[in-house]
Amino acid sequence: MLLPGVRGAASRLCRDLPLACRGCSRGAGGKGLVLGIYSSEKDGGAAQLTTAGDAFDRLVSGRLRELVSTCGPPLKKGKTRVFHGLHQDFPSVVVVGLGKKNAGINDQENWNEGKENIRAAVAVGCRQIQDLEIPCVEVDPCGDAQAAAEGAVLGLHEYNELKQKKKPVVTTQLHGSAESEAWQKGVLYAEGQNLARYLMEAPANYITPIKFAEHIEQKLKSFSNVKVHIRPEAWIVTQQMGAFLSVAKGSAEPPIFLEIHYSGGANASDRPLVFVGKGVTFDSGGVSLKPSSGMDAMRADMGGAATVCSAIVTAAALNFPLNIIGLAPLCENMPSGKANKPGDVVRAKNGKTIQVYNTDAEGRLLLADALCYAHSFNARAIVNAATLTGAMDVALGSAATGVFTNSSWLWNHLYEASVVTGDRVWRMPLFQHYTKQVTDSPLADLSNIGKYSRAGGACTAAAFLKEFVTASHWAHLDIAGVMSNKDEVPYLRKGMAGRPTRTLVEFAARLSQDSHNAT
Ligand code: BES
Ligand code: ZN
Ligand code: ZN
Repeated sequence: MLLPGVRGAASRLCRDLPLACRGCSRGAGGKGLVLGIYSSEKDGGAAQLTTAGDAFDRLVSGRLRELVSTCGPPLKKGKTRVFHGLHQDFPSVVVVGLGKKNAGINDQENWNEGKENIRAAVAVGCRQIQDLEIPCVEVDPCGDAQAAAEGAVLGLHEYNELKQKKKPVVTTQLHGSAESEAWQKGVLYAEGQNLARYLMEAPANYITPIKFAEHIEQKLKSFSNVKVHIRPEAWIVTQQMGAFLSVAKGSAEPPIFLEIHYSGGANASDRPLVFVGKGVTFDSGGVSLKPSSGMDAMRADMGGAATVCSAIVTAAALNFPLNIIGLAPLCENMPSGKANKPGDVVRAKNGKTIQVYNTDAEGRLLLADALCYAHSFNARAIVNAATLTGAMDVALGSAATGVFTNSSWLWNHLYEASVVTGDRVWRMPLFQHYTKQVTDSPLADLSNIGKYSRAGGACTAAAFLKEFVTASHWAHLDIAGVMSNKDEVPYLRKGMAGRPTRTLVEFAARLSQDSHNAT
C-alpha cells in the first residue's frame, strides 16, 4: 500500500493496523464497511463517492476522500482498496470501484448495467472483508439497496457443509437506514438463489429425491398458506406417469413427485402460475452411459427443480399476492438390470408412446408426465425449467437461459424480469421443423431424440416437450448452459449457480401485478 509521495498520516492508515474489536456484537474482528466509488466522468478526474461514502467521509473529517485520492490510481470497476483505523466503529473499510455513475439499462447486453456493477462490486468488497476474517460487514446501498444486498449475499455464498475447515461466516447489514425494505428484498432474492445453489452443489448421495423433497418441505413449513405433498412411487403409478417411471426404475433410489401449493392470491380460486422443474438428482446417462470425466456435475441435474422450488420459497417469504403451484418429478437416471434400454417404448400420462432411443435424454421423459399433470390446474401460465440439453450450453454458453415459448405475453414478462435481475434469457425457436424430427419414430408416437442426432439438440428437446402442452401460455427454460459458474458471473463463486432463480422470482412478482388472465 505504501506509495512514494504519500503523506505520513495517510500512508499509516493504508497499512494493516490491528485494532481492538469495537461495534460488533460477534466479538473479535470488529465490523467491516464496504463503500462504493464511481469512476470519474472524465479521464484524470476525481472519483466520486456514493451518498453513503460522502456521509462517512464527513464523519471522518474528509480523510476517506483524501486517502482515496492519495493512496494510488483511481479505482477501476471491481477493484478494491482497504483502509484500516479510519473510524472506531469500522476498523476496516473496503472501497470498491462501481464503474461509471449513471450506468443504466444496456440494450446490447439486455441488462441493467448499474445493478450488475453494484452486485459485482459489493460481492468483491464483502469477500475482502471475509478474507480479513471480520465477522460483520455493513454495506453501502450504492443507490440500489436490493442490488447491493444481492451482491453481498450471493458473493459470500459457498458450499462448505462437508469440510472441516470452513471460511469464516460474515453477516451482512445495510449501512444506514435508508432503503431497508429494498435491502431486505435483495437478501431474500439472493437467499433464494443460494438455496438452489446449495441443493445443486450438494453431492447426489446427500440430495436424493426424498432428501430434496424434505429439504424444501422444511423451508416451507413456517408458511400457513403453503401445502407440500411428497408423492411416493405408488402415487406416481396411479397417475400413469409411465415415462417418468421408466427412468426412475433404473435406480435403487425411489422416485418422488413433489407438489407445492402456495396460496398467496386474493382468492383460492385465482388461476395459479404453475412451475415445473426437472429433478434428476443424478444423471449417469443410464444404459447410454455418459463419459466418466465430468459426470460428477450431473448431481446438479435437478437444477430445474431446485430453481423453481427455491423461487416458490422466496415468493412465499415475500408474500407475493398470487397462487403458485410447483411440481418436481425427482429421481435418479442410473444403469441397471431394470433400467430403460435403447429402443424401449414407454407410455406417458396422456397416452402418447415414446421410443427411448437414448436413455440419456431422460429429462424430457420426466417432464412429459409432469407437464401433462400441470394441465390439471387451469394455470395462467406453465413455466418449466430443466438442465435439459448439452446443446443449450453449446448454443449460448452461460450468457443466458434459453426460453422456448408459445406465448409472447409470457416471453415479455420473463424478458423484462431478466433485465432487472441480470440473469438473462434469450428466446429460442419452437418451429415445426424440429417437431417433425421427434414425431417420426418407427415404433411410437414420439422419439426421445431428434432424428438428425445432435443438430439443434436444444430445439428438438423443446419440440418434444411441446407435444405434451395444450396450454396457450407455456415456456420451457433450458438452463443447462447456466447450471454452473466458472468466473463468468463475477458475483458468484465457482460452482453450481442456482440460475435463474432470481429471474423466476422477479417474473412471479411481475405476474402478480398483471391482472391479464388472472381469474
Ligand atoms: N442432463 C443432461 C443435459 C446436460 C448436459 C445438462 C450438460 C447440463 C450440462 C441431459 O439429460 C442429457 O444428457 N441430454 C443429452 C441429450 C441427447 C442424448 C439427445 C445431451 O445433451 O447430450
Ligand atoms: Zn441425460
Ligand atoms: Zn439429464
